[in-house]
Amino acid sequence: MTNNMFFIANWKMFGDIRSVNSTKKVIKFSKNKKYKRAQIIYCPPYTLLEKFSKITKKSKIKIGAQNCHYSQRPGPFTGSISANLIKSIGANYVIIGHSENRSFESDLIINKKIISALKENLKVIFCIGETYKEKKNNITFRVLKRQISTALKNIKKINNIIFAYEPRWAIGTGKLPNLAELNKNINYINNLISETKKKQTYKIIYGGSVNSENVSELLKIKDLKGFLIGSASLKSKNFIDIIKKSIN
Ligand code: PGA
Repeated sequence: MTNNMFFIANWKMFGDIRSVNSTKKVIKFSKNKKYKRAQIIYCPPYTLLEKFSKITKKSKIKIGAQNCHYSQRPGPFTGSISANLIKSIGANYVIIGHSENRSFESDLIINKKIISALKENLKVIFCIGETYKEKKNNITFRVLKRQISTALKNIKKINNIIFAYEPRWAIGTGKLPNLAELNKNINYINNLISETKKKQTYKIIYGGSVNSENVSELLKIKDLKGFLIGSASLKSKNFIDIIKKSIN
């Protein structure tokens, strides 16, 4: 397992052509040898993928889409984008199962999407996490187990999957799980995956209200290999600060 740390910027439905230029600072920063362990991945809206692909070409920054359709073939799916189309534009990653989409897609659809993305040689950032109600009802483990086991059906190799633990109640709220809770949930996820997919390498990252103020605390969780970052990734300075605090 490499000791790279992943810093994945999820721009959601933010950003325009002009904001792509603002990432030039991050591109320059990514060339600093001191931070060579940082694997930066930008996931902008679909419409900006091509521009991102061009602007980051000479750097080690990778780009990813925020979702894809499950179909492995072109078809009559108005408004949808396949893994193949994402790959063809120069992207290497795709986020699947993000909390903000989970209300429109089942675990089975997520499973099909992951299969389709892996077939196209895209790396998958697979999001899992419980709602606040599920947490309060003490069924977090049950929810995580269902999400993981259904999503990994018929998938033998998981080395191209990054598991992003994002408690749904922590996204965009400024709230974080406390360290004991986070540790417990990450351990559970880790054990669950390693039990079923023996000896394979995979990575677990955390997402949900990560910023440069709280990242040092989150780094106390030893199995974390990085972060999925929403609002704090929109401004280059904030994003760079998170990376600087994470790597020393
Ligand atoms: P946030 O978003 O950092 O703004 O909470 C994280 C995410 O949605 O992946």
